[in-house]
Amino acid sequence: MITILGAGKVGMATAVMLMMRGYDDLLLIARTPGKPQGEALDLAHAAAELGVDIRISGSNSYEDMRGSDIVLVTAGIGRKPGMTREQLLEANANTMADLAEKIKAYAKDAIVVITTNPVDAMAYVMYKKTGFPRERVIGFSGILDSARMAYYISQKLGVSFNSVNAIVLGMHGQKMFPVPRLSSVGGVPLEHLMSKEEIEEVVSETVNAGAKITELRGYSSNYGPAAGLVLTVEAIKRDSKRIYPYSLYLQGEYGYNDVVAEVPAVIGKSGIERIIELPLTEDEKRKFDEAVQAVKKLVETLPPQLRE
Ligand code: 2OP
Repeated sequence: MITILGAGKVGMATAVMLMMRGYDDLLLIARTPGKPQGEALDLAHAAAELGVDIRISGSNSYEDMRGSDIVLVTAGIGRKPGMTREQLLEANANTMADLAEKIKAYAKDAIVVITTNPVDAMAYVMYKKTGFPRERVIGFSGILDSARMAYYISQKLGVSFNSVNAIVLGMHGQKMFPVPRLSSVGGVPLEHLMSKEEIEEVVSETVNAGAKITELRGYSSNYGPAAGLVLTVEAIKRDSKRIYPYSLYLQGEYGYNDVVAEVPAVIGKSGIERIIELPLTEDEKRKFDEAVQAVKKLVETLPPQLRE
């Protein structure tokens, strides 16, 4: 069973995409009476129309997540125009701590994937509060960040984004670190294909992509995060060992301990199998460090009971 906590825009976009890919046994859980049940019913009807033979249900009761192998955490408040991800910090950290208790009680063997922002800090809180092995607490955003970078590169070069390998590290927020030197197009290093100015533009577009969507339409992205969550579910269910960037608890990797940072990792049926350590230059290490310090600062502003 795949449980989605939160039946808001990200949760529902994820449910729709999972349904369309035929993932069976979807459960939506949210607090508002009727909301997850109504969403599930509508989606079940859509599945029936499309001939997608799956079970979808909605509930206000967290106990119903018993037996889940994957729990996707989309609950929490989203960004409003002009609001940073960081401003969501404490409100959403409380939600994470609360959900961690429920996940521990009812789905203690599940792989937990978090999208709630600021996602790196939320993954840290979830890791600490569940006490689960780090392999099973996965902060999601890296697939989206790198896809956005690939998208902006593809637009500039007039090539398919499928031929772009874009690398973003560090964190999901203003200090995220798109790494042009390690990004490539059809195997050719990006720095051979674009001027410094063009690369700077791509970097800035990537970092500001989420804020731009929020400014334009008044609320933050949901299709982008949902698509990456679906890829994550797929990698777990198929044990595919794909390498995707995630926000993960580090134990020595990249020279850090007790922090969450966005890094590439191999993902399979039991969660994160291995973190990939990319060779960084001194300058790149500094930028990675800025990202890590930004996450650390966020975590440190939380009251101790939410981060210990
Ligand atoms: C984004 O980058 C909301 O953080 C999310 O679109």
